[in-house]
Amino acid sequence: MCGIVAIVLKEQTPVAPILKDCLQRLEYRGYDSVGMSTLYKGSIYTKKDKGKIAEVDAKLHFDELPGNIGIAHTRWATHGGATKVNAHPHQSSSNNISVVHNGIIENYLDLRQELEEEYDHTFISECDTEVIPHLIEINLQNGKNQLEKAVKKALKKIRGSYALAILYKNNPNQIILAKKESPLVIGLGTNAVYAASDIPAFLPLTNRVIILEDGEFAVLNYNNVKIYKTENHDTIISRNPQIIDWNSEMAKKGGMPHFMLKEIHEQPKAISNTLRINNFKYSPFIKLLNDAKNIFITAAGTSFHAGLASSYTFNKISKLDNNPIISSEFIDNVGGMIDEESVVLAISQSGETMDTLNAINYAKKKGAKILSITNVMGSSIIRMSDHEIITQAGPEIGVAATKTFLVQLICLSQLSLYLAEMRGLLNSAEIKFLKQNLMNMPRIIEKIIANQEDNIKNIAQHFANKSNFLYLGRGINSITAAEGALKLKEISYIHAESYPAGECKHGPIALIEKDFPVVFIAPPDDTQSLLISNIMEMKARNAKIITVSEENDNKIHRISDAKFIIPSKIPDIFTPIAYIVPLQIFAYFSAVFRGYDPDKPRNLAKTVTVL
Ligand code: F6R
Repeated sequence: MCGIVAIVLKEQTPVAPILKDCLQRLEYRGYDSVGMSTLYKGSIYTKKDKGKIAEVDAKLHFDELPGNIGIAHTRWATHGGATKVNAHPHQSSSNNISVVHNGIIENYLDLRQELEEEYDHTFISECDTEVIPHLIEINLQNGKNQLEKAVKKALKKIRGSYALAILYKNNPNQIILAKKESPLVIGLGTNAVYAASDIPAFLPLTNRVIILEDGEFAVLNYNNVKIYKTENHDTIISRNPQIIDWNSEMAKKGGMPHFMLKEIHEQPKAISNTLRINNFKYSPFIKLLNDAKNIFITAAGTSFHAGLASSYTFNKISKLDNNPIISSEFIDNVGGMIDEESVVLAISQSGETMDTLNAINYAKKKGAKILSITNVMGSSIIRMSDHEIITQAGPEIGVAATKTFLVQLICLSQLSLYLAEMRGLLNSAEIKFLKQNLMNMPRIIEKIIANQEDNIKNIAQHFANKSNFLYLGRGINSITAAEGALKLKEISYIHAESYPAGECKHGPIALIEKDFPVVFIAPPDDTQSLLISNIMEMKARNAKIITVSEENDNKIHRISDAKFIIPSKIPDIFTPIAYIVPLQIFAYFSAVFRGYDPDKPRNLAKTVTVL
């Protein structure tokens, strides 16, 4: 997730200070590097560097860029580290074209090779975006000296997602936009047109907004906007602006009251982006895991839950012997077993958690190979790793991990599938079926949020004055129960414990009395009949039964006092990805009804850098 801004003003009005202001309101979308291009008297001027907007501005003085038209970008690195050359905007070889981009170009390596070999173009960055100005340039050079056509032709070759703003030196009063799967909105001002990844960027300047849709292409001038379908450039789309009635705090959160809710809603997109990670990123993981003498999975908190869930899938479908150890216990527990033939898989959204860093630092010194899955490029854990995969959730601001958990599960599920495939443990039909189901997850999560949010809110209100909850599940969903309980306790301050449901009879059941709320994660898998017995044990003690279960699962619905509904037919190993979502929403509304700010729970920090 990055933030882009594009502005066209009437002649003589300097654009750079306004671009900078707008960009600052998008910094929540990424903040590892920043850049700006303006167009003045037929030349493109660019300044960029790594760092936050204020830091880079203090050094480079963006306001000095001349001209009344420009584009700007605040980056959250995905392809290529946070460096000056990888920062946007990116230019063509001749500096005729400058581009800012939010999204992922999946086939950039192929495109880059083609541009280098067939057109002798030179690339200076590791960023996927750099292929775009080069592709546009070759189309212009091929005699099609019209930017719109050249851009359209370039887009045909690109696979992936994009929100693009393009500046061309021969079009002194025009910016081109294109959108596919990454957000782009246009703001209509007086003698000014703005475009950005999100409305807050320009909200103090105008509240007249046009939302660009997928597959659309727009040409901005200071006094008009033309929108077309990228595929059919002949028909102009007419769309009236909407009037946005938000204050600036609401605007930063996309109109949502809290970042946590916004981030829960961003999960389908975060998953789609993570599913786009190229296979070759997984190759060194597969090889090292397959060849290792012993494998340790280490992480803290929610990331450890992702690790525990992956331990089930590694056991079940990849037959990969593995040992999940919470990071703070790693050295004391398995320290003596680590050697040069060990592989440690570290999972951390921030890449900075001290417990996890400490564990892998120890393992590295013992000669183990370190693999990591994090959401933050350039983080300390990545620097210490032999190989890394960067999940694509974009920045997570709410302290409670939500979208980063889902993308970790997605990434680890992919890894299990690739391993199972490589080891010949599943036949091609089974692999195809599971891959297709993983690809379906964004739509399933979208459906859960759209259909269940109001229901979950009502249930959360009903239970908001309870002091204790028990969360129970079996198999892989004993981990979903653990994560659900963690979400509830950390933001609503309700005491919530989780157990594998079969363990309850060994002690915790002593807690149960009339109306004690017990949440059961109850998908229709092989564990369900035993889970039903566990539900009946609780019902017999007059507990209140809340279930997460499939639509039409009447066996479960009949014995539930309240239910969160999940679409049917999710393969068992992927159920945590869907079944955790209602529990995140439940925790969120529980905190809100109890009068707490879910984004900033007491005593907690987003990144825990102490041992
Ligand atoms: C819970 C939560 C924490 C983190 C834990 C590890 O919602 O956010 O439990 O999961 O502090 O953090 P990372 O993943 O950054 O290593």
